Amino acid sequence: MKRAVFVVAAVAAMVAAGQVAAADGKAVYDKSCAGCHSAMQPKLGDKAAWAPRLKQGAAALTASAVKGKGVMPPKGGAASEADVKAAVEYMIGKAK
Ligand code: HEC
Repeated sequence: MKRAVFVVAAVAAMVAAGQVAAADGKAVYDKSCAGCHSAMQPKLGDKAAWAPRLKQGAAALTASAVKGKGVMPPKGGAASEADVKAAVEYMIGKAK
């Protein structure tokens, strides 16, 4: 019994650690942003749609996504600002 508890605790710790390191932009994008950004503008990888936005710079775009814009909810539905930042960086990388 004790052993099972230990295994559960170890897995929980690993999952928690994974979330802290969740600066995986693609994973965040797939989970929180793709629902909109694969279907509506600015779409992932649509260079023309992103070009005017990229001029604002990564920091301004991240701030805008954290705050929410138009129908986009604050943080785009992601769990943390770090996740948003990683996802925005992923999206910018695809827009260049
Ligand atoms: C409910 C749909 C929806 C979701 C979910 C969503 N977005 Fe958006 N997003 C939009 C729309 C619509 C716009 C265009 C807003 C405008 O310009 O009026 C936008 C714009 C943006 C912009 C450009 C902001 C600017 O200032 O031009 C960034 C960056 C962005 N989204 C990132 C994200 C990230 C990162 C996520 C996930 C964490 C996300 N979005 C989730 C709908 C969404």
